[in-house]
Amino acid sequence: MLQMNEFRRRRKHLMQRLEKGSVALLASAPARIRNRDTEYPYRQHSDFFYLTGFNEPDALAVFAPGRTQGEFVLFCREFDPEKAIWTGKHAGLEGARETFGADEAFPIGELDQRLPEILENRDRVYFPIGYDAALDGRVMAAVNEIRARVRTGVRAPYEFVALEHVLHEQRLFKTPAEIALMRKAAEASVLAHKRAMRASRPGRYEYEIEAELLHEFALHGCRSPAYPCIVAGGKNACVLHYTENSERLQDGDLLLIDAGAEYENYAADITRTFPVNGKYSESQRLIYELVLDAQAAAIEEVRPGRPWIAPHDAAVKVLTKGLVKLGLLEGQVSKLIKDEAYKKFYMHRTGHWLGLDVHDVGPYKIDGEWRPLEPGMVLTVEPGLYIAPDCSDVDPKWRGIGVRIEDDALVTQEGCEILTQGLPKTVAEIEALMAGSA
Ligand code: GLY
Ligand code: MN
Ligand code: MN
Repeated sequence: MLQMNEFRRRRKHLMQRLEKGSVALLASAPARIRNRDTEYPYRQHSDFFYLTGFNEPDALAVFAPGRTQGEFVLFCREFDPEKAIWTGKHAGLEGARETFGADEAFPIGELDQRLPEILENRDRVYFPIGYDAALDGRVMAAVNEIRARVRTGVRAPYEFVALEHVLHEQRLFKTPAEIALMRKAAEASVLAHKRAMRASRPGRYEYEIEAELLHEFALHGCRSPAYPCIVAGGKNACVLHYTENSERLQDGDLLLIDAGAEYENYAADITRTFPVNGKYSESQRLIYELVLDAQAAAIEEVRPGRPWIAPHDAAVKVLTKGLVKLGLLEGQVSKLIKDEAYKKFYMHRTGHWLGLDVHDVGPYKIDGEWRPLEPGMVLTVEPGLYIAPDCSDVDPKWRGIGVRIEDDALVTQEGCEILTQGLPKTVAEIEALMAGSA
């Protein structure tokens, strides 16, 4: 569990980066109805969680540097003993102060009445403009209420700034406490993938393997995956985000699993592609090892100072060369790269930021240039090749093969650390594990 101090440091850091005379607002994620009175499992908005650790809906956080009554104000649900009997504990105003470190806490029902006082005499309001019509409306109503009182000498804010601009840059650099949680998510995911490899065999269903993954996640405190599991047998692997997971696994097919656990809201994101029957065929192995070489070349580029795009460029180079060698592309490698001929078989990028969100926040470019990698960033490295089953202009032996290999990399001072290192990746390692000898 993250300590209150961790969230306090994050709030302090954010407030230091706001322009003078500012206030920032952030709303919790809403509870969503699944049907009638049943809700979807609640997941806090990652920005809100990042700054508060507060996991309830119907809340609004205020960050007001220099405010005399306290800089961190939390509006939330009041404690309701009746509700506690039905749905369990909730913080209430006292918990908001004591457990979550709010300087002041008010009932969410008092928000509209109290917001003008919080915004008055501030020049600038940072909030996630345009994402939540209700919040947009509330902020403007409060500003108008202040404007109506200008003759009393009070000032209304006159600048509105997208909060994510500042906050997402901060979220991009993981603190040691965050990295510890990401390691937990990665460890649980590694164990789940190993279990899935051991459990796979012809005749089992994709959803049965998904169940193995979810069970292993839960055994390690990960009640939810970080995103819907992709368990794609055979040609289903050529659908990049296949989540139906409904088919029977066939002898001689590959199985692509892209699954990551979420631990205390932090994500892992791993893909492995292995043979359902435990042995790669010759053509599967050739494609697999090409993707593995591309991933190794990409990981080599994950180090401080290298531009964000360098791992992708390295992967594209290896893949294109290999595709020519295997006869899947024809022509000069440099021209094929320039013409993006590889996109026929490799249509996505080699990675993304990873953190509270699987596709985590943070800009990839600064002033129009790919930003350099820096220690504390976490990203995935996930090249792949997907040869569509109906790709009539390639040799039939390649058709329907889809391979992706994905690991999670923490940029360190020296280079990078692969958080998902413990999971077999070479053909020999995977075949040994599936044969029960590893
Ligand atoms: N699991 C989604 C992705 O790899 O980006
Ligand atoms: Mn990914
Ligand atoms: Mn993935």
